[in-house]
Amino acid sequence: MRRIPIFLLLASGLFAQSIRFAADRQVFLLTTSQSSYAMGIAPDGSLRNIYWGAPLWSLDDLPALTPARELSSFDPRQMMENEEFPGWGGTRYYEPALKIVREDGDRDLVLQYVSHRIAGNDLDISLKDIRDSVEITLHYRVYPELGIVSRSATIRNGTPQPLTIESAQAAAWYMPAGAGYQLSYLSGRWAAETQLVREPIHEGMKVLESRKGHTSHGFNPWFAIDQGDANEESGRVWFGALAWSGNWRITVEQTPYRQVRVTGGFNSFDFSYPLKPGESLDTPAFYGGFSAAGFGGASRTLHHFERERILPGGAGARLRPVLYNSWEATEFDVDEAGQKALAGKAAALGVELFVMDDGWFGARNDDHAGLGDWVPNPRKFPNGLKPLIDSVNALGMDFGLWVEPEMVNADSDLYRAHPDWVIHFDGRPRSELRTQMVLNLARDDVREYIFGVLDKLATDYPIRYLKWDMNRPLSEPGWPEAGPADERKLWVAYVRNLYRILDRLRAKHPSLEIESCSGGGGRVDLGILERVNEVWASDNTDAFDRLRIQAGFSQAHAARIMSAWVTDIPNWVDGRSVSLSYRFLVAMQGALGIGSNLNKWTTEDFATATKMVALDKRIRATVQNGDLFRLFSPWAGDLTANQYVGADGRQSVLFAFRHSQQYNSPVPTIRLRGLDPRAMYRVESIDRKLAEKQPQLSGAYLMEAGLNVILRADFDATAVVLDRVE
Ligand code: GLA
Repeated sequence: MRRIPIFLLLASGLFAQSIRFAADRQVFLLTTSQSSYAMGIAPDGSLRNIYWGAPLWSLDDLPALTPARELSSFDPRQMMENEEFPGWGGTRYYEPALKIVREDGDRDLVLQYVSHRIAGNDLDISLKDIRDSVEITLHYRVYPELGIVSRSATIRNGTPQPLTIESAQAAAWYMPAGAGYQLSYLSGRWAAETQLVREPIHEGMKVLESRKGHTSHGFNPWFAIDQGDANEESGRVWFGALAWSGNWRITVEQTPYRQVRVTGGFNSFDFSYPLKPGESLDTPAFYGGFSAAGFGGASRTLHHFERERILPGGAGARLRPVLYNSWEATEFDVDEAGQKALAGKAAALGVELFVMDDGWFGARNDDHAGLGDWVPNPRKFPNGLKPLIDSVNALGMDFGLWVEPEMVNADSDLYRAHPDWVIHFDGRPRSELRTQMVLNLARDDVREYIFGVLDKLATDYPIRYLKWDMNRPLSEPGWPEAGPADERKLWVAYVRNLYRILDRLRAKHPSLEIESCSGGGGRVDLGILERVNEVWASDNTDAFDRLRIQAGFSQAHAARIMSAWVTDIPNWVDGRSVSLSYRFLVAMQGALGIGSNLNKWTTEDFATATKMVALDKRIRATVQNGDLFRLFSPWAGDLTANQYVGADGRQSVLFAFRHSQQYNSPVPTIRLRGLDPRAMYRVESIDRKLAEKQPQLSGAYLMEAGLNVILRADFDATAVVLDRVE
């Protein structure tokens, strides 16, 4: 359904090009299947936003820009002109996209259009300061069939004197002028990530950010804005996601002039980036989209885009395998015999990827020692990792390994050899969190060392998968060798070197897959997602809590990205106990994993799990690559229901969860979505918890009359599989 509008428009020749420019009025029109984005060059040379919203097709509709009217000497016209990339200069008082200081102290920056270049779906617009050669190239890339526009900027010092950047943003986005907007964002903390918040936008500025050096559990760099009337299925929603895994910031401002602006890029807090003459800085990319089909439509667009254009392998990437990880079962107590025993049991369940977590290296018996020493512990693995990996492979599973390459314990050979390699200010405390410090990845020698360690592991052993962890934020961000003028480059250089290591590793070991973990979901953003195959969404594996964590996660990220494990009860985070099938049905909505202590499972547990793993393999293409319809939100009431529709429309799966029962009342009827009303579907309840007994039902009936699941007592769950009858 989603692709029909662009197809029709393209077929009718109304816009054969995704980017058009009208020279007479100096306006640009960028168009995707779901949105248009328009801007123009004003008579004073400023580049200004004209429109962002549903698709427009007529370039002739766009007006030439005229100067805004000054309201008073306190309200200059620049404040009402929606500049695409405002410098901090002249009479501009809102959040700038760029703020600099030149060596001679001049901080004024007024940017004017110089030229542009259109090449296919790419548009580069050059801007320059009115006086000197501070040169900006704005990069726009249109993804016509995916409904996304990406924006980023390159800032170049073309002047003969050094300058320092104090704020560098990727983009400023503007909603249509008005009031009554609502902002949706994802906030959280460790073990409670991606909680969805929606609140009115009032005058003033809301800041979403990380100052921790990684993306952070606190906020995810994603936003959605609606006009107060959108819901899951309908209404206009503007959304964006920033591709940066370090200090980032998104500000949402409503001005007194009914402008709603979203500005995002590097966090300007503690930011200072010197550029010598001829040097430049690239900002991260900020992806934006629009949907007229509510928050569900916005998420499906973003998911589709991530699957096709962000994740490694794109549309052709293999489905995420069923994984086993023993962390919650064994913690640091790993050894060859114990892991082999678990591997045998995991293989019998149908697990495809066996991952050994923390504890396998150096003097790592708890979290006080060993980080940095990436050689197998000789007591636990007297013959190295090969015997274990061989036996995992012989069981038909791939092998994966946990690493935390950015970190070091004081009690490690690496720290004893290179105390200067950690991030620190000379003569100041080096704060430890989880008794570990952070290596200064901004240093090229540290980068080379880490790449070398990981490259050796991936070369010496047939490792298919690395779980790359990062268990604390940065602190005391000094870089003594860089010197005071340059040391704040660390915030950017750290992340760029992290990306370089990941890029080089994947290039050298093309079948190596990587999971991004940062104490759960501390590093989930479109920057890291270009380089990893999945992420650990949260250390909180309580299935009921996960419903909300996953619902928030699904606002911004596709199901296949989200690693989700079934673990033991009572859950270690909150002590809650829910049935094994409930835990499986929650985890199956991402990339299924098992993290239980299989040595403690009963025969019945094995039987349930074997059935559930087989079910997962039957439906995972639908979940991982399909469209998600959030039918009942876990924040709204007693029932949570999610439905996935496969990309080819041949299968759909409904998952339903009940929190608690009172007065023997039934759960509401669930009307499905995204089906073909004229098609027939074979209806299969996995556990007879369905009132409808008809073996087949039409799409029209399923979507209009709906299904009635029978969920009783507390924490009951079920699933219904619908296969289209050809
Ligand atoms: C972090 C991760 C866990 C586990 C431990 C190991 O907390 O989120 O999944 O890997 O580290 O120390």
